[in-house]
Amino acid sequence: MEVPSKNLALDLTRVTEAASLASARWLGRGDKNSGDKAAVDAMRKSFSSLDIDGTVIIGEGEKDEAPMLYNGEQLGTGNGPRVDVAVDPVEGTRLLAYGRPNAISVVGVAPANTMFNPGPSYYMKKLVVPEAASGVIDIDAPAGENLTKIAKAMDKDVDDLTVFVLDKPRHAKLIDEIREVGARIALFTDGDITGSLMAVDPHSDIDVMMGTGGTPEGVLSAIAIRIMGGSMQAKLDPQGGGEKTALINAGIDTRHVLTEKELVKSDDLFFAATGISGGSFLHGVKFTGKGAVTHSMSMRGLTGTIRYMEAVHNFRTLMKVSAVPYD
Ligand code: FBP
Repeated sequence: MEVPSKNLALDLTRVTEAASLASARWLGRGDKNSGDKAAVDAMRKSFSSLDIDGTVIIGEGEKDEAPMLYNGEQLGTGNGPRVDVAVDPVEGTRLLAYGRPNAISVVGVAPANTMFNPGPSYYMKKLVVPEAASGVIDIDAPAGENLTKIAKAMDKDVDDLTVFVLDKPRHAKLIDEIREVGARIALFTDGDITGSLMAVDPHSDIDVMMGTGGTPEGVLSAIAIRIMGGSMQAKLDPQGGGEKTALINAGIDTRHVLTEKELVKSDDLFFAATGISGGSFLHGVKFTGKGAVTHSMSMRGLTGTIRYMEAVHNFRTLMKVSAVPYD
């Protein structure tokens, strides 16, 4: 019998817990950079003890702008599997800064050279649906047409569907189209990884995620979707002239439809997320005086196991051994 390999998702959960604990102190303090920095710092320290030979593919940006967790940075002890790493220490920096729900800390890991590298792309159009509607979507078709087909595949009426959309001016036309066909809309100011997770999670009240958000968030969502089931279609969707020119110069075809299988080309995946502010998907960090309670999800692609974990952290004892300064 084959010896099962290590489930890295459990280690990754410690990484997202550390980032959430550190950044949650900044909830509602109006300072998104400090909240993000606290998370990045804690996440990087946590990664340093992991037995992986990791390369950051989705990070905090280019090295000159991001001193830590920059794209191309090597992570881990170097002893262990060669892996591509995607990090989003705070997904929803504004949510954290303004004390709104659904800020989470997220990490995804895949075998080396299997993760889509966004290059100069910042924005991506996405359509995410649960398993039942996997075969019927077409990101190039009008929203109403997709929703009619999705509803039929899910054995619902269109007005039973709830669509997650980021509340952005660029989505005015999309929102009109969704309203016209009669589906319900859940508008969120930020956080479309949560939207994608909710669309494929049978327990959530979201059925579909539609619209344009970050390209890095799209890759992280693809990892989760490959593990949880459901499907995603996506297209790079430059929002400004500079981004468009950079994509053209890099020879990237924005007409190409990407699926979750192209965004990450392996089943051997690991994903972890921890709530920072309390939300519709994960509870936020609760400080108890002596420590804190966190709520995370931890998933492994090869087995398909999805764990929801509540962790009770005792700062007095934790601080004797932890490299991350919680207090
Ligand atoms: P940040 O945490 O990097 O601020 O991202 C939050 C987010 O809402 C993402 O979930 C989403 O993909 C992206 O921003 C959308 O970008 P924008 O706010 O520029 O429209």
